Amino acid sequence: MASLAGKTALVTGAMGGIGQAIVARLQADGATVVAADLSTAGTKADHGIDGDLTDTAFADGLPARVQALTGRLDILCNNAGIIARGKITEATDEDLRRSLAVNVEAPFRMCRATIPIMAAQESGGSIVNTASCWGLQPGPNHPIYVMTKAALASLTQCLGRDHAGDGVRVNAVCPNEVDTAMLRTGFEIRGLDAEAGIDALNQSVPLGRIAQPEDIADVVGFLCSSDARYVVGALLEVNGGKPVA
Ligand SMILES: NC(=O)c1ccc[n+]([C@@H]2O[C@H](COP(=O)([O-])OP(=O)(O)OC[C@H]3O[C@@H](n4cnc5c(N)ncnc54)[C@H](O)[C@@H]3O)[C@@H](O)[C@H]2O)c1
Repeated sequence: MASLAGKTALVTGAMGGIGQAIVARLQADGATVVAADLSTAGTKADHGIDGDLTDTAFADGLPARVQALTGRLDILCNNAGIIARGKITEATDEDLRRSLAVNVEAPFRMCRATIPIMAAQESGGSIVNTASCWGLQPGPNHPIYVMTKAALASLTQCLGRDHAGDGVRVNAVCPNEVDTAMLRTGFEIRGLDAEAGIDALNQSVPLGRIAQPEDIADVVGFLCSSDARYVVGALLEVNGGKPVA
């Protein structure tokens, strides 16, 4: 396994299901990890920075804060995300505004602030965005979520191409269903039992189960590593063989 010793990583949404697994994986690979989330109390990362990514000044300034804290910034995982559920006719202005702010505008701001820092380092850097299979194909009844993840996928492809020459690789991991709070609350909101819902979903995956956060974090770890040195602008589906239908 390629080592990330001596490297610094910034992970957003670091207290969520996938975020905690990314933190653990990057630390296991030797990186110094800075966790960012609304609250990072109890994080196992090396440092925690609390803040709301919809605060534009916070998002703009976060990469420089990490550089000031650790002396460098080699890896950025734009992993924070929220899901708005329901058809467009049920969507509120606030659903739209907040989803665009967290899922699209924050990664835009973070990439814009991070790329010059990475480009100035001799070893460059790697950015991994957590997009979704649901941004590559439209899943039903989640138009806001799908639209924002499609935008993040497009941003990934654009930046991958534009900044490969600066030594900055930009890629995305695109999970299908992952066993986290984001998935479980979907059942709970509808008054359904999450365990029964996950059992049913497991049957729909060719590999026989939905993803655990570590299944996604291991792919993020690969994309961050020098093993992925020739991977640029990729939208890597991690779906156990289950397409969005
Ligand atoms: N769980 C799935 O099935 C699934 C599938 C595909 C993609 N994803 C994506 O994976 C990523 C991680 O999701 P998860 O499943 O771990 O969800 P999660 O809800 O467990 O974690 C999301 C994290 O983002 C943080 N966050 C939300 N809004 C924020 C804000 N304004 N400022 C700062 N932090 C904020 C939350 O506090 C939380 O810790 C998301 O981008 C999500 O869209 C999840």
